Amino acid sequence: MKHIHNLEDLFFEQLKEQYHATRQQMETFPKLREKTSNNTLKESIDHHIGQNKDQLDRIGKVFAALDRNRHGEVNEAAEGLIREAIKLSERCSDAAARDAGIITSIQHFNHYNIASFGTLRTYAKELGFEEPKNLLGKCLEEEKSIDKELTALAEKVINLSAIH
Ligand SMILES: [Fe+2]
Repeated sequence: MKHIHNLEDLFFEQLKEQYHATRQQMETFPKLREKTSNNTLKESIDHHIGQNKDQLDRIGKVFAALDRNRHGEVNEAAEGLIREAIKLSERCSDAAARDAGIITSIQHFNHYNIASFGTLRTYAKELGFEEPKNLLGKCLEEEKSIDKELTALAEKVINLSAIH
């Protein structure tokens, strides 16, 4: 494993980790989608898949702009959250409780991404990577906004129907 000597090395390591986290999450969304019959949640997941595609695109542009490659391994932290998400959805025998569980699992993904994109954007700014800073900032804002959207969906609709 390559040693990390400075902020630039750390930036590229984190960028690879986030690339793989986003890719792994994107592969997981259809599995969560088929476990819900709530149309609003389905639409939100579809929207999320589209965002993840855009994010992979943007991360790809950052690698290209800085002439680096994104080859790396599976992101173990993301894999752990994904395993938990699937396990939780399988343990819910009630549809509304399952929907609430799916939302919390997706919010765990989002909060990981918010921490990660926030750090990446800051590093890019400090390293003088102007275009990457903007691309990563866009990913960060998207994650924050879908997270708010999910909170509203949970609080206004889904959690209430799971109280019984
Ligand atoms: Fe997300």
